[in-house]
Amino acid sequence: MPSDQRLAENSGDDRVPVLWMLGEGSFINVRAVQPQDEAEMIRFHESLSERTVYFRYFHLLQLRRRTEHERLSRICASDPARDMVLIAKDDEGSIVAVARLSLEENSDEAEFAVLVADAWQHHGIGTILLRTLLWRAREQGLNRVFGLVHPENVPMQRMCRHVGLDVSYSIEQEAYVAECVFANSPPPRTECHLRSGW
Ligand SMILES: CC(C)(COP(=O)(O)OP(=O)(O)OC[C@H]1O[C@@H](n2cnc3c(N)ncnc32)[C@H](O)[C@@H]1OP(=O)(O)O)[C@@H](O)C(=O)NCCC(=O)NCCS
Repeated sequence: MPSDQRLAENSGDDRVPVLWMLGEGSFINVRAVQPQDEAEMIRFHESLSERTVYFRYFHLLQLRRRTEHERLSRICASDPARDMVLIAKDDEGSIVAVARLSLEENSDEAEFAVLVADAWQHHGIGTILLRTLLWRAREQGLNRVFGLVHPENVPMQRMCRHVGLDVSYSIEQEAYVAECVFANSPPPRTECHLRSGW
């Protein structure tokens, strides 16, 4: 199977929202982003603090740039063979988090990134999205998933360790690399698959 098809498999299922209950009893829906989510994505970006933007992009990527139609339409209608973009929505339909898994060119490795709105951080959403991405990556037969984490981004380093990723500093990248090599981990458990609904 060519590696660039791996994220495309079962893409129909990704559009079906999965309901998650957070620790304090509120709910989020997680599903793949769709073109009609673009307006809500703009509102999501408008809500982000400079600190959150800096940690995600490693620099202060301007709101204007983040919400450009060309950029957002590419994300909201991304090629499922290369990118998996998940959104989490609250009860009112507002996007509260976005997570992305991007296949590296000509490889069976993918890079992840997670972005949670300030008001929703530290409620377990980042963990849900990262675990979902890891599960899907593994299910699709990818070999390695990795993310770059800013050296000052202690919450993300903690979260990555929390979900079982190896986190180590890379002098070359001037960042922490959080990674999971699936060949090193035990086979998936069926009950996890059924529970997550993916
Ligand atoms: C980093 C980020 C994705 C974490 O998502 P989240 O939904 O807040 O994380 P969770 O609630 O799932 O927390 C998981 C763990 O992360 C750590 N954590 C999260 N927020 C934290 C905070 N503000 N301070 C300290 N630790 C924190 C904790 O270890 C936590 O586990 P615990 O509560 O059992 O101690 C989110 O804070 C975020 O979007 N930050 C800005 C963008 C960013 O840094 N993206 C990562 C780029 S790769």
